[in-house]
Amino acid sequence: MHAAETRLSREAITRLIGAAVLAPSPHNSQPWIFRVRGRCIGVIADRTRALPANDPDDRELTLSCGCALFNLRVAAAHAQLGTQVHGPSGACDPDCLARLEILPDAAPDAALAALHDAMAERRTYRKTFAARPVAPAALDALVAAATSEQAWLHVLQGDSQRRMAAELIAEGDDAQWADPAWRRELAAWMHPRRRGDGLVLPDLAVPLAQAVVRTFDIGHGVAARDVQLADASPVLAVLGTRGDDLASRVDAGQALQRTLLTACRHGLQASFLNQPIEVAPLRMRLLQAIGQTGYPQMLLRLGHAENHLSATPRRPLDDVIEFVPEGSPDGGC
Ligand SMILES: Cc1cc2nc3c(=O)[nH]c(=O)nc-3n(C[C@H](O)[C@H](O)[C@H](O)COP(=O)(O)O)c2cc1C
Repeated sequence: MHAAETRLSREAITRLIGAAVLAPSPHNSQPWIFRVRGRCIGVIADRTRALPANDPDDRELTLSCGCALFNLRVAAAHAQLGTQVHGPSGACDPDCLARLEILPDAAPDAALAALHDAMAERRTYRKTFAARPVAPAALDALVAAATSEQAWLHVLQGDSQRRMAAELIAEGDDAQWADPAWRRELAAWMHPRRRGDGLVLPDLAVPLAQAVVRTFDIGHGVAARDVQLADASPVLAVLGTRGDDLASRVDAGQALQRTLLTACRHGLQASFLNQPIEVAPLRMRLLQAIGQTGYPQMLLRLGHAENHLSATPRRPLDDVIEFVPEGSPDGGC
């Protein structure tokens, strides 16, 4: 990878994209395509993988692509390549959320390269965390990670903020589970591992689990469990942005991934309780509860994992990469 002539080979680009797809995405939907043209990798929203009930305006889809973009930057820096990000190119292609231009002669970003191993170590950890506090220095690093990507991270302070957040999480669970379309969508993304995407269940459990989720509103039970998880989490934090347009959402994704990888470097894992952001009327109530301005994008819980989880599956890279011959017309991505 270090020899100049191999830097931008198909193999080298494919390695970068292999890191990009390790990014998280809601329901593990992996809603991205990487369009490669010479030294540019376009991150394209794959809206065939959208979640209209859970994410009606593709906000989380955009965040996921932002996470993948951040991984591209980390992988490029680790490969000693400089990069420049170009924002959404709405005029020429509304699905092109960003382009990463590789600048082989520019200095790689050492701080990004240091996050490389965390890409494979990161997991969405939905279990109860160890009852160990998170060191203040780690919290400072998480806040700095989000801030350096044009976002903010607000760590919930005191019993009252945490209690209000837990109440909104429970309300969000109730609202989502009461919606048959939301339950049908969740059920449709419950997959056996061999499918390479979705929320993984053992092969034999899939049909029954799908039927239960489709048929029954178990919102109260889920809410009770989520409140317990929130209460037992050493850290609850909201990641937000000043704006809520396309570029802000891509930024939010990059900030989320930088925060998650930084957390890994401090021995922490995270998972998400996004219900109060996904259920539109609760979003501004969450903002008021934490006394911030702007737009909440993710509600995270963080702590030390007690168990090692195996990685969730990803689709084959051939399904997500398009190599476009240089010089073919399109004006952007
Ligand atoms: C924008 C976004 C929203 C997410 N929302 C939730 C959520 O509400 N609840 C949850 O349990 N996981 C949520 N996830 C985590 C995904 O389910 C997870 O990333 C996916 O299953 C892949 O697993 P991994 O993160 O361990 O690689 C979200 C991820 C992203 C990027």
